[in-house]
Amino acid sequence: MMAPPSFLPIATEIARDAGSLLAELFERPHEISYKRPRDLVTEADRRSEALITERLTLHFPDHAIVAEEGGGRKTSSAYCWYVDPLDGTTNFAHGFPMFCVSLGLAYKDVPVAGVVYDPIRKELYTAESGAGAFLNGKRLSVSKIQELSESLVATGFPPYTTDHHMNIIYFTRFTQASHGVRRPGSAALDLCSVASGRFDGFWEQRLNPWDKAAGVLMVAEAGGKVTDLAGNPFNLLAHEVFASNGLIHDAMLRIFSEGSRDGTKK
Ligand code: IPD
Ligand code: CA
Ligand code: CA
Repeated sequence: MMAPPSFLPIATEIARDAGSLLAELFERPHEISYKRPRDLVTEADRRSEALITERLTLHFPDHAIVAEEGGGRKTSSAYCWYVDPLDGTTNFAHGFPMFCVSLGLAYKDVPVAGVVYDPIRKELYTAESGAGAFLNGKRLSVSKIQELSESLVATGFPPYTTDHHMNIIYFTRFTQASHGVRRPGSAALDLCSVASGRFDGFWEQRLNPWDKAAGVLMVAEAGGKVTDLAGNPFNLLAHEVFASNGLIHDAMLRIFSEGSRDGTKK
């Protein structure tokens, strides 16, 4: 039987080129505009997206594309690329060097291939379902930390809402229960950091499919676990994501399920 086609070589080439463009534009003054209050977009987001969607269309003319800045296309294919041309726009706009390009391919809404490229650290993460996850060609494994009290975890706060009440409660609880909580500002890289063992867990409540399609596959292929915050199976089209090394998953789920101090559940 013939092996299924690998989408990674082309996706990798595209992510590297888009990442190089971001790195070049990062050195120049940025023109910032707002999609909504606090939700920034730059010329770099748009130019990276144009490069990616043009090249994906050239190589995979049948595939659908959902891209954050609106440059996608609908087709009848069960394959769909989820494109975040610049994940970490707020960091980028402020000159904080933590951002990436994220390309995730889903088949019938299930991630099957992913590439995340951090052009500042020149770190390329790749994964294909059933074939493992890799950082610059080296196989990744999640951490072996067994105790939440010895873990380093991360979260994020979406820029387009001010309703962070529950997540601030979780942030407080995990700060008290672990070695600390980080908020790096790029969900795709946060997920890759769970895959590489730099973080032991990551959660966020309101992400879009392009933020997580590639990253969740990295975690799963590195031996980690991905669910929602209630422990239900991960759904790419839903908003929540909770990824961990698997070993501290239940302990983290208990913290999410405790409810807020005023007695309400999330
Ligand atoms: C954002 C980043 C951030 C996360 C936000 C996302 P963007 O993506 O991933 O870490 O907390 O929820 O919207 O806007 O920089 O592509
Ligand atoms: Ca994003
Ligand atoms: Ca983005």
